[in-house]
Amino acid sequence: MAEIQTKKITIEKSQTSKINDVDFENLMFGRVFTDHMFVCDFEDGKWQNPKIMPYQPLTIEPSARVFHYGQAVFEGMKAYKDENGQIFLFRPDENYKRINKSAARLAIPEFPESYFFEGMETLLKLDREWIKPGVGNSLYIRPFVIATEPAISASPAEAYRFMIICSPAKAYYNAPVRVLFAEKFSRSADGGVGFAKAAGNYAAQFYPTSLAQKKGFQQIIWTDASTHEYLEEAGTMNIFFRVGDKLITAPNNDRILDGVTRKSVIQLAEDLGIECEVRRVSVKEIKAAAKNGSLKEIFGAGTAAVISQVSAFEHAGEVFEMPEIENNYASLFKKSLMHIQHNLSEDKHGWRHEIK
Ligand code: COI
Repeated sequence: MAEIQTKKITIEKSQTSKINDVDFENLMFGRVFTDHMFVCDFEDGKWQNPKIMPYQPLTIEPSARVFHYGQAVFEGMKAYKDENGQIFLFRPDENYKRINKSAARLAIPEFPESYFFEGMETLLKLDREWIKPGVGNSLYIRPFVIATEPAISASPAEAYRFMIICSPAKAYYNAPVRVLFAEKFSRSADGGVGFAKAAGNYAAQFYPTSLAQKKGFQQIIWTDASTHEYLEEAGTMNIFFRVGDKLITAPNNDRILDGVTRKSVIQLAEDLGIECEVRRVSVKEIKAAAKNGSLKEIFGAGTAAVISQVSAFEHAGEVFEMPEIENNYASLFKKSLMHIQHNLSEDKHGWRHEIK
């Protein structure tokens, strides 16, 4: 197969494309992947041999540490195309910083910035047909790192693989979500890995979330592990509460993911003159606000989920249905974000990153 060399990256192009088999109007999140993937290995103490190749299965020894100890971190990003065919990323520098923050916590070596950006941009240019224009369309990008060293002693690996795979995406949640406030299980604890995009943080939510789903709630809003009195995040998204005209969201700490959409919403709120308090949010105050009618909205913010409205919440056996609010903040932030992402409005904070 013909190999091309960019400044740093070897490219092996796929001979055929799967794109004509894809129904872009009916995508389920994360099921279909583009024609190529980016791969770079850490061996002999350095990241080397960055390569783009056809999307394909991996051959990894069963003793690789990722399978035994979950030494793995990831990121979630999106690429957008405007009506002129220009491609944009949204605040990718934040994802680059965060994957290395997550990596450091899991004793994974830092990934070089030039490989991260050149790998991603080259991959996106190669698979550009997979990015469809139009608000609501995007290409979800999943950079991740796994420990590949074949050794099962419980210590950090000496070999890793960094990869980027991409999947065309529409909405993550197709409708407002019903959530349960956590009373027993916890997602993260002080001094733990809650702030990191560690693979295991997500796996650990699957069982409690499946119990919630049996009760008719799609997601859990996690509370602090020690008292279960303060609302923290939803696992796939950070969470915002609108009480009266004011927004409230939990502060970042070592239990909560430092969400890029979260910090963008906080900035947009400031731009729009909406008061946003970043402070601990108690279950008690949210239930009291729901009872006295001042709780107007709850919504989640995340890369995959964008902005997702919460239609009801449950706590201690009480179910609260959220009111339907006209001109709600959730729709306002969703539209503002998407318009910036799709090059339809002014980008006053320099969040768009064009792929040239
Ligand atoms: C993202 O929003 O990018 C995430 O990583 C959440 C994931 C569970 C889809």
